[in-house]
Amino acid sequence: MDKKALIEALNKDIENEHGAIVQYLTHAYAIGEGEMACELEAIAREEMRHLDWLAEAVVEMGGTPSLQRGHTRMGGGSVQEWMKNDVLLEEDGMTPYREQVAQVDDPKLKRLLKRILADEESHHADFQHFVEKSARESMTDQRGTLDDRTVEILNWGIEHEYTVILQYLFHSYMATDHEVQEQLQDQAINEMQHLGWLAEKLIDIGSSPRIEHTEIDKSVDMKQMLTADISIENVVAKRYDEATKELQDAKIVKLLSRIRDQEVYHSEVFQDLLAELKKERGSA
Ligand SMILES: [Fe+2]
Ligand SMILES: [Fe+2]
Ligand SMILES: [Fe+2]
Repeated sequence: MDKKALIEALNKDIENEHGAIVQYLTHAYAIGEGEMACELEAIAREEMRHLDWLAEAVVEMGGTPSLQRGHTRMGGGSVQEWMKNDVLLEEDGMTPYREQVAQVDDPKLKRLLKRILADEESHHADFQHFVEKSARESMTDQRGTLDDRTVEILNWGIEHEYTVILQYLFHSYMATDHEVQEQLQDQAINEMQHLGWLAEKLIDIGSSPRIEHTEIDKSVDMKQMLTADISIENVVAKRYDEATKELQDAKIVKLLSRIRDQEVYHSEVFQDLLAELKKERGSA
């Protein structure tokens, strides 16, 4: 495989991992609290690591990681059908990895693809087990249809969090300074926590999380990316703050206040990085 085809193939893998993360998280949130939800979230976290490793490989080869959400199998009228769809999604993902392991010559990349394939085989077995378990334990969809101002705000929060997760990951892959990369990755992980808290709260109050994102800043210059990241943090910190004043539910206000404080922290971290960068480059 030539370099261009290989980058394209790895980007397709990244897209598939992205789709799998969203599908498994959707299922985890929808079945509510419990052991199986935790296991689904743990699998989604492994897919995030795959995405991360593949994105780094793409950048190492001079490519740009894709931010598209790939193929999913979101249908299914019962938890058991969802688990069957998760089994199938793992099968969809394993096929290209098997082909790539056979085709790739570079020993480091081959080892990485083998490692990911082994993880997918393990997930495949886990999901087969969950097909049985969900039926045995008569698990049901815990999502409700409540649709009010609180739901609107929490889903706005999810949309924002999902957007910045992708944006900070993308910026971290394209950044050339180690400290900037580290901080962007760290804050992206924190934004994943925010997304999880908001989604769980939505299930809690009898509604359903909507996992969609808005436009992502794709700057590749570190000054430009940090400027965009500071700007989005300041805007959302203000919106979360307004929401804490608008809503009445004490637990929700506490949750949104905590997220707001962390957004302010993110903004300050990014401001420090930008100031350092400007000092190093000797220009404003
Ligand atoms: Fe994966
Ligand atoms: Fe956040
Ligand atoms: Fe943030």
